[in-house]
Amino acid sequence: MSPTETTPAPTVPLANGAVMPRLGLGTWPLDDREAEAAVAQAIGIGYRLIDTAFNYGNEVGVGRGLAASGVKREELFVTTKLNKEDHGVDEVQRAFERSATKLDVDYIDLLLIHWPNPAQDRYVDAYRGLVRLLEDGRVSAIGVSNFKPAHVDRVLDATGVTPDVDQIELDPTRTRVAERAYLRRKGIVCESWSPLGGQHAGLREHPTVARIAEKRGRTPGQIILRWHMELGLVTVPKSADATRQRENLEVFDFALTREEIDEISALDRGGEGVTDSDAFGH
Ligand SMILES: NC(=O)c1ccc[n+]([C@@H]2O[C@H](COP(=O)([O-])OP(=O)(O)OC[C@H]3O[C@@H](n4cnc5c(N)ncnc54)[C@H](OP(=O)(O)O)[C@@H]3O)[C@@H](O)[C@H]2O)c1
Repeated sequence: MSPTETTPAPTVPLANGAVMPRLGLGTWPLDDREAEAAVAQAIGIGYRLIDTAFNYGNEVGVGRGLAASGVKREELFVTTKLNKEDHGVDEVQRAFERSATKLDVDYIDLLLIHWPNPAQDRYVDAYRGLVRLLEDGRVSAIGVSNFKPAHVDRVLDATGVTPDVDQIELDPTRTRVAERAYLRRKGIVCESWSPLGGQHAGLREHPTVARIAEKRGRTPGQIILRWHMELGLVTVPKSADATRQRENLEVFDFALTREEIDEISALDRGGEGVTDSDAFGH
């Protein structure tokens, strides 16, 4: 660890044997140039998990950032995701090759189906394609994103292989209680996207979050990210700014009380504001 590096995030074991850091860097909506700088900087600070997607159009920049970091490939955990055009067993092999080439890596740690796109009804075959990549050792872990329990049930029934991760939209206003309980029962790690509420600062400025932050001598972002950790989630906050990247990783040296966790969870809006993955996807 270099003197400027923060303690790395703890890890969680995944269903198919890999081990994943519990907190990493989101890279949407950074372009190649911004992603290269943000990823190299984040790894220098201590991040080991980097989250991208074919759809973000920044895999080349992310790959350059990984290389520029100077940290060994095996110490890093790289997630990317595939689009609906890639839903199919052979299509997924091609999507892997394309993303691995752009990222300039031999293997991908975690490859996710970005959205189920049920109208197209090809996500089960896409998942079969991921299972093949896992068996061939091209990826260390496989998973889904924005899958509802009914979608996960179908891939489980069809293949018998547990997805390692389901990455879903989750923050204190979208606590996804039923989905989290379902994923826990199935042994699937739940990963939060837009953990800080996304680009709008509303959640970060909420009086409840601000009051707890003030009381604990932490920033609102740290209080929200610690809440994700208390719930046992994996998450990938996005920041391109070095100070905020560091702040977001420094959430492993304190704990919230049961009462604070409940107060934050009470910001839930009963499912309002959750993107419906039966209707939206790419
Ligand atoms: N699977 C999916 O369908 C899906 C969908 C969306 C996103 N994602 C992934 O999830 C990642 C995170 O989601 P997100 O980027 O939508 O939202 P987010 O991480 O909840 O929030 C990002 C926003 O918060 C700001 N921010 C970050 N840290 C902060 C702090 N400590 N204090 C104040 N502001 C802070 C960032 O600005 P600065 O950069 O200026 O700090 C940015 O505007 C994405 O980057 C992407 O990798 C996945």
